[in-house]
Amino acid sequence: MANHPLVAHKLTVLRETTTPSPTFRQLTEELVTLLAYEATREIAVEEVEITTPVATAIGTHLASPNALVVPILRAGLGMLEGMTRLLPTAEVGFLGLQRNEETFEAVTYANRLPDDLSGRQCYVLDPMLATGGTLVAAIEYLFERGARHVTCITLLCAPEGLKAVEDAIGDRADVTIVTASIDERLNEKGYIVPGLGDAGDRLYGVV
Ligand code: URA
Repeated sequence: MANHPLVAHKLTVLRETTTPSPTFRQLTEELVTLLAYEATREIAVEEVEITTPVATAIGTHLASPNALVVPILRAGLGMLEGMTRLLPTAEVGFLGLQRNEETFEAVTYANRLPDDLSGRQCYVLDPMLATGGTLVAAIEYLFERGARHVTCITLLCAPEGLKAVEDAIGDRADVTIVTASIDERLNEKGYIVPGLGDAGDRLYGVV
């Protein structure tokens, strides 16, 4: 969990019912950029020799292949700009997963991802880790394509969702979750408490 006063402040404004969509979108991007800094701490790098105006030196470049950023449609799209601002060389894949509001199960309705993800570091963007159904489905999707290093960036997590991901993934691969807050619980409708409401609706309106 990112423990920083700027993260805490931005998240508090984000939670407020009165925060309008344009501010909500802006704050989401800013929060993701802060979380991305933490989330990329283990990103693969390689040594390079460079020439400064004064001398040659050994420096660091991001390694190949480029990282893959995967926003989960629709609410994850609101996090994309904040992530690519920090990681402009990343490629972007898309995964459309929607939860059935009665069973809370994740259903795939769109995907645009490379077939082979072996050796790729993947960064999944989804603002709310609630029951964990969507995130587990997304991680499984990436595993099926060979990914073994998956970092998930969320704004909020419910303890129930964290446990569901932990139980489903076990020690099969390297999965990390970076979040701005672990909230209290889920309510009977599957919303995070205290949460921030429906992230997709607050980003894009009720459509
Ligand atoms: N999805 C949301 O947008 N909000 C929640 O509280 C839970 C899931």
